[in-house]
Amino acid sequence: MLKTKFCELLGIELPIVLAGMGGVSMAELAAAVSEAGGLGTIALAGLPTEAAHDEIAAARKLTKKPLCVNFLAPFLTPQTLDHVLRDDVQAVALFWGENFEELIARVKRAGKKAIWQCGSPAEAMRAASAGADAIIAQGFEAGGHVRGITTTVALVPEIRDAIGNLPLLAAGGLADGRGLAAVLALGADAGVFGTRFLASNEADAHQAYKQRIVEGRAEETIHTTLFDVGWPGAPHRVLRTKVVREWEHAGSPPTGKRPGEGKPVGVMRRHGLEMPLVRYAVVPPNSEFKGDPEELPFYAGQSVSLVRTILPAREIVRMIADEACEVIAKRLSPLA
Ligand SMILES: Cc1cc2nc3c(=O)[nH]c(=O)nc-3n(C[C@H](O)[C@H](O)[C@H](O)COP(=O)(O)O)c2cc1C
Repeated sequence: MLKTKFCELLGIELPIVLAGMGGVSMAELAAAVSEAGGLGTIALAGLPTEAAHDEIAAARKLTKKPLCVNFLAPFLTPQTLDHVLRDDVQAVALFWGENFEELIARVKRAGKKAIWQCGSPAEAMRAASAGADAIIAQGFEAGGHVRGITTTVALVPEIRDAIGNLPLLAAGGLADGRGLAAVLALGADAGVFGTRFLASNEADAHQAYKQRIVEGRAEETIHTTLFDVGWPGAPHRVLRTKVVREWEHAGSPPTGKRPGEGKPVGVMRRHGLEMPLVRYAVVPPNSEFKGDPEELPFYAGQSVSLVRTILPAREIVRMIADEACEVIAKRLSPLA
């Protein structure tokens, strides 16, 4: 049931993919999603080569099933990519950037599947002609960094028409089986879930951040370039937390003139490394962050309104799959 050509491409049971979420989709969460029959993605953006390798090794202790790794193309060094391509991962998902040909060719030469997350048909066609094995269409309602300005419902069929039969995944606004069934109907071969898995036991997000997700509403999210220390000028969607409201109160001033600019807000620990952070840093608070988590970005998509419980990732996968089957069988099939 629910087997699509993307499932066949990766050898997975269900067309349910964990979004690469920097700092959040780490070994434990990715392994749990893969173990449940979906495709777990380990977000490696910003990790030094050794730490990236350790993260994959940690996931491999938890699952033998297919795994994907995710990079932000502007921050990817050739050394890290080379190293990771020798590891036991089946797919590499890339996001943002222009060097489609070079990166996709290297991923494919290593025998891995190359996936590119895109925000427009033009970008999808460039990735497709560079040889990508699958495209992710990311709609404007997505959480985290947002590549384009078109919503998922309009973007998925547009990209499907642009790329022919190539496997297509849809990201942005999906939190349950209704969303998955909807994007399958639009022409996608799998759904990518970010915000839904943020509120999972295994996500490496600070407890206060998870709590705000299960209380948050779509109207509270804002599409902005506010959290730019570490990655300037890249639009993203976050919850309107204390620091966002303070900036808006001050009249939404530009970078350099914002309240508390440069103020130290705490220290993040990961892989034994300590990273002091200032206000407007791009990094979301993980479980080991020491400081006020509300000073850091709470990335979230508009699907946040549909996320009301923190659950084990395995249960989330199961709920999405069961509900999608029910929607197709009981709601869509009888209409035909
Ligand atoms: C906390 C967070 C961090 C993210 N970090 C990344 C990242 O490192 N790489 C990436 O390709 N996409 C990243 N994204 C975007 C996701 O890949 C995906 O497009 C998005 O989560 C889909 O929308 P949804 O949150 O509504 O499910 C991030 C999203 C969130 C919520």
